[in-house]
Amino acid sequence: MKLTYLGHACFMVTVNGKQLLFDPFVRPNPLASEIDVDQIQADYILISHGHADHIADAVDIAKRTGATIIAAFEITNWLQQQGIEKVHGMNIGGKWRFDFGTVKCVVAQHSSVLPDGSYGGNPMGFVISGGEKNFYYSGDTALTLDMQLIPQFAVPDFCILPIGDNYTMGIEDAARAAHMINCKTVVGVHYNTFPPIQIDTTAAKAKFAQNGLDLLLPSIGESIDL
Ligand code: NI
Ligand code: MN
Repeated sequence: MKLTYLGHACFMVTVNGKQLLFDPFVRPNPLASEIDVDQIQADYILISHGHADHIADAVDIAKRTGATIIAAFEITNWLQQQGIEKVHGMNIGGKWRFDFGTVKCVVAQHSSVLPDGSYGGNPMGFVISGGEKNFYYSGDTALTLDMQLIPQFAVPDFCILPIGDNYTMGIEDAARAAHMINCKTVVGVHYNTFPPIQIDTTAAKAKFAQNGLDLLLPSIGESIDL
């Protein structure tokens, strides 16, 4: 299964031939200046919560590609007001079968407000199943005991977790999360973009390795096979 990292917490995964883009934040990210937003193709855009560093490019990409946006009901309502017609609003605990597979929305302990101050509902994570492999993207979140439920929904072959600390889990908690989720392969996101989330990536990988876990940190624009 191919995952392409586009910087911060933005990545693309191909599931059953459909391109799923998560948390688009490229144009305002100076670290991702090599990525041409106008070249990004997507069939679906999944948004974990309303913060600008997860939604900044969503409207532009959805308008150009005609992608369907999957997000909390409050966020999809707001997107409709921005002229986006193809949306699928969901909420925590709910699942829906799409043409690429099933999305289940799960708890994320964070906050969510849209860039203009509108209420963004509750932040969410996503468990994606029904493709070649199952995976879990936690979104921005603290370590939470709710993560123990993830393998009961679908045992993830890989997961995508924030590791930058300060606003979300840091390395230690992401390693604890990986054990709770029962998933040894972790793609780390949400680090190095801003001064408070700068990390030592070599130490981070070593910490994961000591715990019997594999921390993958693809460079921006790099595609990896999982
Ligand atoms: Ni956030
Ligand atoms: Mn964030």
